[in-house]
Amino acid sequence: MARVYLLYALCNILTIFITLKWLHERKRIVTKEIIRYRYRNQLLNQPFSGSDEELRLKFQLLINKSVDALDEELVELARQVIEPPSERRTKARTVPVTPQIKDVIEILGKKRHGFFVECGAYDGESASNTFYLEKRLGWSGLLIESDYLVYTKLRAISRHSYTINACLGPTTHPEMIEISSSAIGGGKLVYNGTYGEKDKRFGDRLGDMVPCFPLDTLLAAMDRRHVDYLSLDVEGYELDILRSISWDKFIIDVISVEYVMLKEGKKALKDYMETIGYVTFDDINYSDEDFESSIAVYQQYNEEEKFSGSSDISRSMSSA
Ligand SMILES: *[C@@H]1O[C@H](CO)[C@@H](O)[C@H](O)[C@H]1NC(C)=O
Ligand SMILES: *[C@@H]1O[C@H](CO)[C@@H](O)[C@H](O)[C@H]1NC(C)=O
Ligand SMILES: *[C@@H]1O[C@H](CO)[C@@H](O)[C@H](O)[C@H]1NC(C)=O
Repeated sequence: MARVYLLYALCNILTIFITLKWLHERKRIVTKEIIRYRYRNQLLNQPFSGSDEELRLKFQLLINKSVDALDEELVELARQVIEPPSERRTKARTVPVTPQIKDVIEILGKKRHGFFVECGAYDGESASNTFYLEKRLGWSGLLIESDYLVYTKLRAISRHSYTINACLGPTTHPEMIEISSSAIGGGKLVYNGTYGEKDKRFGDRLGDMVPCFPLDTLLAAMDRRHVDYLSLDVEGYELDILRSISWDKFIIDVISVEYVMLKEGKKALKDYMETIGYVTFDDINYSDEDFESSIAVYQQYNEEEKFSGSSDISRSMSSA
């Protein structure tokens, strides 16, 4: 009889334990959502949170004037918004080696001190396509992440690269675009704020209004005309970004593009890449328990012939 009571008591304790655990988890999720909403409201139409009002007005004015990617004032503003590499020791638990990284190393050899651009960089660690290059081969670069909370994590691990909390624009002008928050699936473009239709995949929930710069602007702001590796993963408007780049002003050796969500489809991407002088190096179908993806890796064909002129970007810009 005593044994039955004991069993009964144990069951009750277990039930209480499970309930408490469940309540705790729920509270955690709800708290996360509240924080996200607070940030969202704070950020809505407020680019560059934490920086001064003057910068915001300036950006809005440049949007209103629809200035070009290499407009001097826009490039100067981007310089102010890009954050420098951390000087602390990088705090990361893993150094992922993604299939893209293997391809980059295969194409460029174990090149040291290269320069990359990664968009979206996410938290700078999970499935990062550039952390290995930075940590093991001494590369540096620019990490672009539009989601404010994820960007905070990215800064917190102290990567030794420049970072910017913005999106890569789909056009040759600065813009404010609504991007889905990472909490609701992807941290990527919700809808085409300036002229487009809402993306149905994300339901009615709003994202964050994010300042977007053309890649040209960011490269000019960093006085860079040569990039060894560009990693693009922005869930759908990769081709718009690629089309916005001034290929006569910048050289990019290797480009990886995640094309699963690409609106125009894989063939359009391949066709475009060929017209601008790239060949397909690899087509990766990646899958693990909770993640599936397709990525194309392109290699610039015959780049030496394309660029043999001066290497001073500011000179070529001021003459443009
Ligand atoms: C930009 O245009 C919007 C709408 O036309 C206007 O409300 C805003 O004041 C303008 N901002 C600046 C800084 O000119
Ligand atoms: C936004 O919508 C316009 C008009 O529908 C379209 O031309 C443009 O390519 C779209 N841009 C993006 C980034 O989806
Ligand atoms: C990857 O999958 C796509 C379609 O899902 C297919 O077209 C492509 O050939 C596959 N690539 C490889 C390397 O298996």
